[in-house]
Amino acid sequence: MGKPKVVLGVSGGIAAYKACELLRRLTESGHDVRVVPTDSALHFVGAATWSALSGNPVSTEVWDGVHEVPHVRIGQEADLVVVAPATADMLAKAAHGLADDLLTNTLLTARCPVVFAPAMHTEMWEHPATQENVATLRRRGALVIDPAVGRLTGVDTGKGRLPDPAEIFEVCRRVLARGTAGPDLAGRHVVVSAGGTREPLDPVRFLGNRSSGKQGYALARTAAARGARVTLIEANTGLPDPAGVDVVRVGTAVQLREAVLKAAPDADVVVMAAAVADFRPETYATGKIKKKDGQDPEPIVLVRNPDILAEIAANRPRPEQLVVGFAAETDDVLANGRAKLARKGCDLLVVNEVGERKTFGSEENEAVVLGADGSETPVPHGPKEALADTVWDLVVHRLG
Ligand code: CTP
Repeated sequence: MGKPKVVLGVSGGIAAYKACELLRRLTESGHDVRVVPTDSALHFVGAATWSALSGNPVSTEVWDGVHEVPHVRIGQEADLVVVAPATADMLAKAAHGLADDLLTNTLLTARCPVVFAPAMHTEMWEHPATQENVATLRRRGALVIDPAVGRLTGVDTGKGRLPDPAEIFEVCRRVLARGTAGPDLAGRHVVVSAGGTREPLDPVRFLGNRSSGKQGYALARTAAARGARVTLIEANTGLPDPAGVDVVRVGTAVQLREAVLKAAPDADVVVMAAAVADFRPETYATGKIKKKDGQDPEPIVLVRNPDILAEIAANRPRPEQLVVGFAAETDDVLANGRAKLARKGCDLLVVNEVGERKTFGSEENEAVVLGADGSETPVPHGPKEALADTVWDLVVHRLG
């Protein structure tokens, strides 16, 4: 089998320079990339750069190499088309089926998955014309990644930044891996919690846990690549924001509860992958706790934290909302998992066996997903993304 063929469309925005890194990542990971810039894109990054980095010829219009019918062939042969950055103008052309250059022709002839990574000023992104074009493209099955929030071209900040190229690459990788399966979570809002809460004792100390947040991030990434609108509520992970995902940062269990309760009413699915501290110190010392010579340390008194998963499951805004929990068990894994699923009242429970050998923070996982309907889905040892995709498969099946 040859290398997967990727078309990298580049339209004329300042973020075009970031597409060079995306191109690099694609070629270095074994993809055959054909860059198709627009004329405007070449004002920002020249054809020589695209050609040298891709190892392929570069053209913007349909009149070069006419004997090879490039305006049809490039799209037809592609396994993936990704347009990054996609300007407001490019989204409008794609939504309306205009075909006045090589890239817009390619978009009309491609039958493979198409990903748009828009980048523009906030006003342009929020304009009803752009929003309607995005909705049209999504309805037709394209994956349009929401822009990130941050510094824009000038001194202004807002929504409109091109997400980190490394994260756009992750989306491309996921979409390619799914082949023609399509964005089956399109139109759905999913809320995922990730990481581990920290319960402060004083300004410098906390009670925490060793959750890396990687499983929750894998859930957020895979959901976004399957077309969902994703709210990721993260506690203390330090991980980079996945492309197109709305990230809310929290520290403690109480803050996590607040953020989940705020996002949940609008969600089709809530996945509690975060490791929430069951207890927090009863008191918080506003100054650093000092040791006193000759005296025993003060005991730390703990109080219970709210059980967010149980609360969410018991107070669903709509009966069809799905709630997914996680459980880490060392012994009697399945029996404890079943009991926990019933106690928490969730629809699915991902049960992990943890122990000395099975360290937190690894890139891989192994689990059994228990269903409230009695189902049991074993997920063999593998990347955290594979477990995430199994969870979404089960969710999609239940959402109907
Ligand atoms: N959870 C929660 N709120 C808490 C504690 C846990 O929402 N205060 C959620 C976690 O996000 C996870 C699941 O509940 O989805 C884990 O439940 P938990 O009872 O804490 O299981 P374990 O961590 O395995 O601990 P234990 O066996 O001691 O109950």
